[in-house]
Amino acid sequence: MDQQTAYAIYADRRARVAAQLGPGGIAIVPTAPERTRNRDSEYLFRFDSYFYYLTGFTEPRGWLVITAEGHTTLFCQPKDLEREIWDGIRLGPQAAPDTLGVSEAFSVDELDARLPRLLENRQTVWFPFAIHGGLESRIDGWLQKVRARVRYGALCPDAQRDLCGIVDEMRLVKDAHEIGIMKRAAQISAQAHIRAMQRCARMIRAGEDVREYHLDAELLHEFRQHGSQYPAYGSIVAAGANACVLHYRADNAPVRDGELVLIDAGCELDGYASDITRTFPANGRFTGPQRDLYNLVLASQAAAVEATRPGKRFVDPHDATVRVLAQGMLDLGLLDRNDVGHLDDVIEKRHYFRHYMHRTGHWLGLDVHDCGSYVEPGELGQLNERKDPLSGEVIKDRPSRILRPGMVLTIEPGLYVSPAADVPKAFWNLGIRIEDDAVVTPEGCELITRGVPVEADEIEALMRS
Ligand code: GLY
Ligand code: MN
Ligand code: MN
Repeated sequence: MDQQTAYAIYADRRARVAAQLGPGGIAIVPTAPERTRNRDSEYLFRFDSYFYYLTGFTEPRGWLVITAEGHTTLFCQPKDLEREIWDGIRLGPQAAPDTLGVSEAFSVDELDARLPRLLENRQTVWFPFAIHGGLESRIDGWLQKVRARVRYGALCPDAQRDLCGIVDEMRLVKDAHEIGIMKRAAQISAQAHIRAMQRCARMIRAGEDVREYHLDAELLHEFRQHGSQYPAYGSIVAAGANACVLHYRADNAPVRDGELVLIDAGCELDGYASDITRTFPANGRFTGPQRDLYNLVLASQAAAVEATRPGKRFVDPHDATVRVLAQGMLDLGLLDRNDVGHLDDVIEKRHYFRHYMHRTGHWLGLDVHDCGSYVEPGELGQLNERKDPLSGEVIKDRPSRILRPGMVLTIEPGLYVSPAADVPKAFWNLGIRIEDDAVVTPEGCELITRGVPVEADEIEALMRS
């Protein structure tokens, strides 16, 4: 890719934002702050997703300004040979216009001096609301400086609007460039899951003391080996009953022969997340009850996949999943028909919630729980009120988002069985989730994470090899 092609994607996105700012609009987008971990050590820097989406620029301390007329200004770290010896090469404002395609660039040290002038005579300031602590007051300070010049004839913007509304809609539908990266991220993550499964079976067969962190190490190895910069979120590696803790993090618990292991892990590649969960028997062979529950979750996922296509709504895969899971809970005795009644009662009164307490998916993209409204924008006015059968709370719902090609979402049903006298003992402490990443296509959806198998027999075969 030559320079111009490389930045054309971002320049085009900035132009699309500019076109939506309205007369006199101006947008301000900072990247993420650097964060201290302890004393003088910092967390690895991760750019802000909005800033990156509009610039492709990964250095800290960057700011982007876009006017409605399409003029773009980047503020970035100045060249500084001494700092660059310690921290690495900086692009610098002189090279930024050619490299990134912005109209002009200045040192971030000039931000406070230049921003009031950029804001002068504009009508509306757009910035991401509630993302960057302190941004509102920073902008207020700049606006104060503009107000001080009003008596000399300057106009001060009199409206502030949330830029997320515009950019979220753009980010929700991925372009070919983004889908290409997400497919590569998904492949790397799939290989990482395979590697962790195989290591687990090998160690169990050899009678070694397997710990959750051994499997985490395999994931990290595979991520980095293929160029992923970091995990897209804290990897969950949960052995046995730990799988019933939804946000359990890889730790040092022993992984025992006969237990299931749940791994929810995905790499981030060039800013884009992948998000895969697989549940497998530590020793490579499902027991009967494990397989029964596993196949139920898998069947519920298949129903959700079937409901993931253009024209369907975001809630449809969830509703399809719940129907299959609820029926299975009745069939397997996880719910007692005498207590909960028939399938429709289980769904309507949310009895299934006892064993399935999360949603079936979320948008995926630069953020693992990506931005994008879950409500259909054209139907905002249609408000439905209902009473939640469990909490009694009155919930106001709007029509769920209609799926379109290019949207990317996860499909991740699960079952989590806590010990209880009214549940067959064979299922106690089993936690199962199966999660794949789906790109909505014109015909349906493509599961981009199936490089790691999901069928029970295929998992067993993989773990034998
Ligand atoms: N790994 C986070 C999630 O599945 O939502
Ligand atoms: Mn997920
Ligand atoms: Mn996940």
